[in-house]
Amino acid sequence: MSFRTLDNVDVAGKRVLLRADLNVPVRDGKISDLTRIERLTPTIRELVGKGGKVIVCSHFDRPRGKRVPEMSLAPIATALGEVLGQRVRFAEDCVGVMAEQSSERLARGDVLVLENTRFHPEEEKNEPGFSAALAKLADLYVNDAFSAAHRAHASTEGVAHLLPAYAGRLMQAELEALEAALGTPVRPVAAVVGGAKVSTKLDLLGNLTAKVNALVIGGAMANTFLSAQGHPVGLSLQEAEMHATALDILARAKAAGCEVLLPTDAVVAGELKPGVATQTVAIGAVPADGMILDVGPATVDALIRHLASWHTLVWNGPLGAFETPPFDAATTAFAKAVADATGKGALRSVAGGGDTVSALRHAGVSDRMSYVSTAGGAFLEWLEGKTLPGVAALG
Ligand code: 3PG
Repeated sequence: MSFRTLDNVDVAGKRVLLRADLNVPVRDGKISDLTRIERLTPTIRELVGKGGKVIVCSHFDRPRGKRVPEMSLAPIATALGEVLGQRVRFAEDCVGVMAEQSSERLARGDVLVLENTRFHPEEEKNEPGFSAALAKLADLYVNDAFSAAHRAHASTEGVAHLLPAYAGRLMQAELEALEAALGTPVRPVAAVVGGAKVSTKLDLLGNLTAKVNALVIGGAMANTFLSAQGHPVGLSLQEAEMHATALDILARAKAAGCEVLLPTDAVVAGELKPGVATQTVAIGAVPADGMILDVGPATVDALIRHLASWHTLVWNGPLGAFETPPFDAATTAFAKAVADATGKGALRSVAGGGDTVSALRHAGVSDRMSYVSTAGGAFLEWLEGKTLPGVAALG
């Protein structure tokens, strides 16, 4: 993995096209989580501090090549200004005369946000003419959008070949954390994978069995593995058509010397509802009318004991249906133990993926991991061992 960083780059008086990921969650017209904006500010402050003229571009949501007013970046530009504590200008298009004039008018230290790149269909097609139109706005290109780096779009990939291209500080931090977690980890290294479906995480599980010493499988996807092994899972969510695949993953893990840890007990209920009556049963004793909604306390205790022997942990996907208490118990208890081990310097912990980040926040420990990625899909593709086009273009 090689990429150019902002070290030793002279940006004074130069226009810098900064690819950010301003695709922030919005609920009832309000930004519900500022993390992506906050994590972007070190790069902007550094460029501003060095006298650069910063031109921020990003996608927002999926307008499919059309101008959709609800998907304008204007309110997000305002929020960026508030977080930065400096005036942020806005251009109503990301290419063309308006964008060119706005970028030419910038003084040293100014910040301009361009309108949603996905308002143009050429963005997602990575159309060379569109990349050239973006490149026309700047002297340098900095990509700080690791979370969009799995997309080979004009603003993430095409333009990187037309201007001197560098990784921003957030991109650099993501890549360094991920390299330390799976590229050259301090072993033993374990991965915790949860979530609903084996079918969506096949490549990821396959890649991890070849790389980690231990693989913890939780969430509803564990049900598919347990059922494939012949254990009753009652009415639990599972993918019966993935049984053969699940057994194949277990066989591949064994051949690679990767220990797979599946739940040994489970918290079961008749339905997924807050505060519903539950029972804790051993795997093998799940009742026919019950649903597994969380891993049980014996499983959590075993995982916490294992933590003491691991030096690196990669986490993607909650252990149970954590959004609905009491099925948050296992994820929260394990998250706290991971945070404690990290705090003692005994463990490097790297987590990513939307659900995982929410689960860590729910447990109150999202700032106590070694690194929490801002990425969803890009984090998954990286766990799958894929080359991310937006990263490759910086090499
Ligand atoms: C994300 O939120 O994961 C990124 O911004 C990428 O968004 P996309 O899945 O719409 O490309």
